[in-house]
Formats: sequence, structure tokens, C-alpha cells
Amino acid sequence: MATEEENVGNVKRQLAKLFESSLRAIVPDEPDVEPLVAACTAKFGDYQCNNAMGLWSKIKGKGTEFRGPPSVGQAIMKSLPPSDIIESCSVAGPGFVNVVLSKTWMAKSIQKMLLDGIEKWAPQLAIKRAVVDFSSPNIAKEMHVGHLRSTIIGDTLARMLEYSNVEVLRRNHVGDWGTQFGMLIEFLFESFPNSEDVSETAIGDLQGFYKASKQRFDSDAAFKERAQQAVVRLQGGESKYRKAWAQICEISRKEFDRVYQCLGVQLEEKGESFYNPYIPGVIKALSDQGLIEESEGAHVIFIEGFNIPLIVVKSDGGYNYASTDLTALWYRLNEEKAEWIIYVTDVGQQQHFDMFFKAAKRAGWLPADDSAYPKVSHVGFGLVLGEDGKRFRTRNTEVVRLVDLLDEAKNRSKATLVERGKAEEWTEEELEKTAEAVGYGAVKYADLKNNRLTNYTFDFDQMLNDKGNTAVYLLYAHARICSIIRKSGKDIEELKKTGEIVLDHAGERELGLHLLQFSEVVEEACTNLLPNVLCEYLYNLSEIFTKKFYSNCQVVGSPEETSRLLLCEATATVMRKCFYLLGIVPVYKI
Ligand code: ARG
Repeated sequence: MATEEENVGNVKRQLAKLFESSLRAIVPDEPDVEPLVAACTAKFGDYQCNNAMGLWSKIKGKGTEFRGPPSVGQAIMKSLPPSDIIESCSVAGPGFVNVVLSKTWMAKSIQKMLLDGIEKWAPQLAIKRAVVDFSSPNIAKEMHVGHLRSTIIGDTLARMLEYSNVEVLRRNHVGDWGTQFGMLIEFLFESFPNSEDVSETAIGDLQGFYKASKQRFDSDAAFKERAQQAVVRLQGGESKYRKAWAQICEISRKEFDRVYQCLGVQLEEKGESFYNPYIPGVIKALSDQGLIEESEGAHVIFIEGFNIPLIVVKSDGGYNYASTDLTALWYRLNEEKAEWIIYVTDVGQQQHFDMFFKAAKRAGWLPADDSAYPKVSHVGFGLVLGEDGKRFRTRNTEVVRLVDLLDEAKNRSKATLVERGKAEEWTEEELEKTAEAVGYGAVKYADLKNNRLTNYTFDFDQMLNDKGNTAVYLLYAHARICSIIRKSGKDIEELKKTGEIVLDHAGERELGLHLLQFSEVVEEACTNLLPNVLCEYLYNLSEIFTKKFYSNCQVVGSPEETSRLLLCEATATVMRKCFYLLGIVPVYKI
């Protein structure tokens, strides 16, 4: 159990501790009852404890002194230990205990965050190390918008975990192994008999190279034969083949890196090939456990609830996607000692993950209880659609080049800035940096704000709109807050030390409450693997700031100026942390 000091950011958890002690006092014979505390949606209070009903059904008929849920609620309320967090409590309806937070405590907590830094509001997770397996494109094949989604979502999840003090192994599980390499290598030998000629410029576009070699493979039986031989020689480790393979991988890698650089995403490549040497050992161990059976010449694991078994060794003796994934999981659990392994791919791969997760459970690698650690999670996401409602494609090519997409977002946002006269006002570098922050931020946010399971439409006009729930709107809102502070002419660092926050006005209090909910929202977004929860929080923060606080509470020149400037600073600080967690670079002026 975390200590009070560790819980500083999480109001919900601090209240839960108080309710826990109350529950222990009123029903000492029910030590398993966990406090149920949630933020209120109604206006009766800020938070609510919802234990009374459930508890009543547990204890009624057991000779209890209580007469029903409301009297249980009353007892819970009366037994709360004294605390400066709570202003007042009341019991409503069938026993809900509503809590109104103390304004003084709220103000102090925000002020403390400003002084000690927002790192103190980091969520607390029960694990120390996680693997996030994301992006993971396939060598020589298209890196499509699905991989873009995986890259964006995976990076955000990794950032949220890292903020929560979890060590994250950011894994790029690239498809760098498999039968397609035989064909590619053979075609490479044909096209460049002198292997020194092979360079990025020589091959030009690797996807075109892939297509051409595939054509050759499909139309020429002798070539096909050689390609199949090449796979065997590559897998057997023949150096000429390994070298050609490495060259092809390197060219792909350079292209992927351009996308990662634009997006500011860090990844460490451990591709499928990395796990290859470990596969036989893992298969043998599973086989020794009696889990592997023979079926139509293949080696398979039967899994409850599925009509088809999981194939782990193909009938030709080769390994497949599942053999690699099982082995990678084994490696991550045993060699890397990861406690939570998260895979980010489109929902189309759900069944593959369900199956090998179940196989791992059968093997006893994972606990039967899904919520216990070590744990595996598949983070699925929907399709990206074009404006025609179909799978996203550009006009003339079948695939969308991701770098082009990001460039276009940047160019469009630059054009808007130029239209607004920023080319005269700013240096070229400022213009460039802002256009990047806004353009790339817009692409990321448009993806992250939806529940990841739904399909979404890729629409530049919509994502680059400066109104509505877009990164542009949010980045501008942040820049405006910074400009309020700048224009006040006050030294905000000094105010943090000497000034005092007061939350007397309803607008100030509402803003303060929302700020204080940051930590529990990040924790929810992180534990449920839902970045959209954080986006919604950020959007609401901006709305509350503008509509509830700023339009009702004069900042500069008012008697409350110091306190209100500190609230502006706290809002900007929390917004920046949200941007950071979403992989968006903040802008300070606009
Ligand atoms: N390379 C795969 C694809 O493009 C994604 C790999 C995801 N990670 C994994 N461990 N299976 O679909």
C-alpha cells in the first residue's frame, strides 16, 4: 500500500484511504470490502463513496445494527477519520456519501505541485518494468497508416508508463524474417551482381523493389526455386545471404527512422529475427510439457474456445508469426523480466493475440487471473478511413507514404501561420518549429482523441481546424495562457514562492478541482490503455479554463491577480504535461 506522501497527486486514492479506515471501523468482520470512491458527476459533491448498497447486501440478515443502505451510509460518513482534505459530507439517496473537498486544501495542493513539480503527481502502478511492442512495420513492405496508429498510440502508452516510474522497453518488433526474404535476396543478386553497388539510392524505393521481385517470383519458376533455396541458406546462416538480408533491412530502417524522427518517437528494434535462435528451445519446452500435438503434419497447440489450433511449427518444418511471438513472450518474461507486456496492433490481429496469450497461460507462463501480473494486453485499434469512408489511400498510389502525410500536415499549418502574418513576426526557425509542432501534433491528436477501437476518418481540414477538439485549438489555448502570464509582467517563479492560491470564486474552484484530477485521469488512461481518456481531460481543462474561469474571473489588474496568475500557471503546467504524454510539442506563442 502506498503511503500518504506517495499519494499526493491522487485525490481519489487519498479519499479511498479515509473511507477504508471508516469501513474497517464500522464492519470489522468484513476486511475484504474495498472502498469504492469516484468523482461525482452530479452537483452534490466533488467525490462520492458508493459502498453502502453493496455492503448492506453483504451484512443484512447477519444480525447487524444497520437498518438499510442509508443507515450504512450514515455510519460510513460518521466514522471517517478527521482530515483536512474534506470540507463537508452528506448522505444522499440510497446511501451515497458525498464529499465536498476543502478549498483551502485544494489550493494548497495545487500550490505544492507548482513548487515541487508535476512529477509529484505521477500515478502509481504496481509494476517496475513493462514492454510496449509497437509500430513494428515489416521490412521492405509498406509502412502504412495502421503502423502510424500503432506508433502514435504505443508511444503515448509508453510515455504514460514512464511518467508512472515504470521502466519501459520500447520494442520495435519489425517483420525482418520470413520467406519473403528469399525472393528479395535473389532479386537483389540479380539486380546488383556486385553487392558493393547496393545502397539506398541504388534500390530507390524498397516497396517498388518488393513489387518487382514478387512479380518475378510469381512468373518465373526457376527464380522461385532459387528464392526458396535462398531462404534455407539465409536461415542456415550463410554469410553472403546474411549480408544481403542485412542490407535490405538497413534500407528499410532508414525509411522508418525518418517517420520516427518526425514524430519524436524512440524505439528499440528487436525484430522477429532476434528471437529466431530461441524458438527451438521454447518449442521443446512446450512439447516436454505435453502441450504440443501433431495435426495435419504441423505442430500445434489446441486452445479452448477456438476451432482452429495455434500452429507453432508448420508442416514444412518452418516457424511462423506465432512461433516467434510465443518465443518473444518467453524472452520478455524470462530474460527481460517484464511484468506487463503490451502489444499495439490493429484489431484484425486480435485472434492471434488471444490464442497465443491463452497458450502461454496453458504453459503456466502467466497467471490464470487476468488482472494479476505478469500480464499481457493486446491494444487493438480500428481502421483509418479516407474522406470517402473507405480504407485510407491517396489519389494515385495505393499506399499512403507516411512521411508525405506528415509533411503535408506541417506545410498546411505553416501556410496558416504565414497567412496570419507570422513570417514577418518570427524567425524562420520559429516558424518552422511551430509548424512542425502544430502539424504533427494535429495528426497525433486526431488519432488519439477517439476511442482507439473505432475507425476514424483522416481529414486534414478537420484536424487542423483551430476550433473544436483539435490539437491546434489546444496548443493555441496553451499559448494564450502563457501570454496572459507574460503580459502581466510578473515573475511567476517568484509568485510560486511568495503568492497564495485562493479558490473563492466558483470558476476558480471548478478549475482547481479539474487540475487536481489530473493524476487519477492519467492513472486511468494508463491502466486501461486508453489515451482518449487523457485527451478528453485535456480538452475539458481548456474549456473549463476559458469558459468557467477566464471569462468570469479577471486576472491581470484584479485584487486576486497573484492567485489567478498562479492558477494560469498551474493550468499551463498540467496542459504541457498532457501534451508531453500525448507526444505533442507545446507552443508558447501564437
Ligand atoms: N509486423 C506486424 C504487422 O505489421 C506487427 C507486429 C506486432 N507485434 C507482435 N509482437 N506481433 O502487422
